[in-house]
Amino acid sequence: MKLQLHAETLAEKNFLGGRAEVFEVMGRLQLITLLRCGLYPHSRVLDLGCGCLRGGYWLVHFLNPDRYFGIEPQVEMLEIGKTEILGRDILNEKRPRFSSNDRFDPSEFGVLFDFFIARSVWTHASRGQIEEMLDRFLAFGTPDSLFVTSFLPGKKGEGDSSPDWVGRSHESDTPGTRRHELGWIEQLCLDRNLKVRELFDPGEKQVWLLIAKGEGARPAQTYLKRLVEGMGKDKGKGKGVRDSVRRWLRCTRLTRRFSDRHSS
Ligand SMILES: C[S@@+](CC[C@H](N)C(=O)[O-])C[C@H]1O[C@@H](n2cnc3c(N)ncnc32)[C@H](O)[C@@H]1O
Repeated sequence: MKLQLHAETLAEKNFLGGRAEVFEVMGRLQLITLLRCGLYPHSRVLDLGCGCLRGGYWLVHFLNPDRYFGIEPQVEMLEIGKTEILGRDILNEKRPRFSSNDRFDPSEFGVLFDFFIARSVWTHASRGQIEEMLDRFLAFGTPDSLFVTSFLPGKKGEGDSSPDWVGRSHESDTPGTRRHELGWIEQLCLDRNLKVRELFDPGEKQVWLLIAKGEGARPAQTYLKRLVEGMGKDKGKGKGVRDSVRRWLRCTRLTRRFSDRHSS
């Protein structure tokens, strides 16, 4: 059965962490985004708040065995991900590892990570939790590690309303999201000698951020430029198309005016 149909069936009885109708596409986008940022099959990936493996499904399939690590405190949701979304055969073949701590703490895995990903996690996390995740990134990322995270951009001061997670989690059944100010995130990164940039992704409500360690930022800047800005070129192409349409309309108007003048 296609993953999307399977997820829709599961969602009739279980909360899967997001809207069921975009389950497959939102999962695929996580792998695509990491690929655009330089993911290899041998990369080690830490998926913070991995939920029921919406993105993990694609990452575990793509990565070599022993390369995917997920942290998810909502144990029932993670169990659905392992048994229903991934399935025994892939679990046995790829040996992904999981932790259910709620401190974003990967120390029990005993490895460093090439990539951190947090999809739809900063959209609920408190300011303190975001700082915690960045500190884990500093401590458990390889020197040229990258952190790919999505957030909802907010106005100045937005995001500091509560010290707790907002939305569904292992501790709450109340839905909700929160916004964070990009300037505040930039300052956090600056304080930690991390580079941060937005990934251009048209039509996305959540904005992807790419955060790189100081040492990793240079290679990241160069080798990622073309990958990351591949989409930026579309922007250019779009502009090209818009300009051509404008030129064509102008030309049509001139032709009409010319023929009106000369037909009388
Ligand atoms: C909106 S879901 C996103 C799940 C997944 N990243 C995805 O794209 O489907 C947010 C997840 O973060 C988890 N979460 C909540 N508090 C957390 C914490 N303190 N540490 C790690 N994950 C947490 C929630 O249980 C939930 O599964």
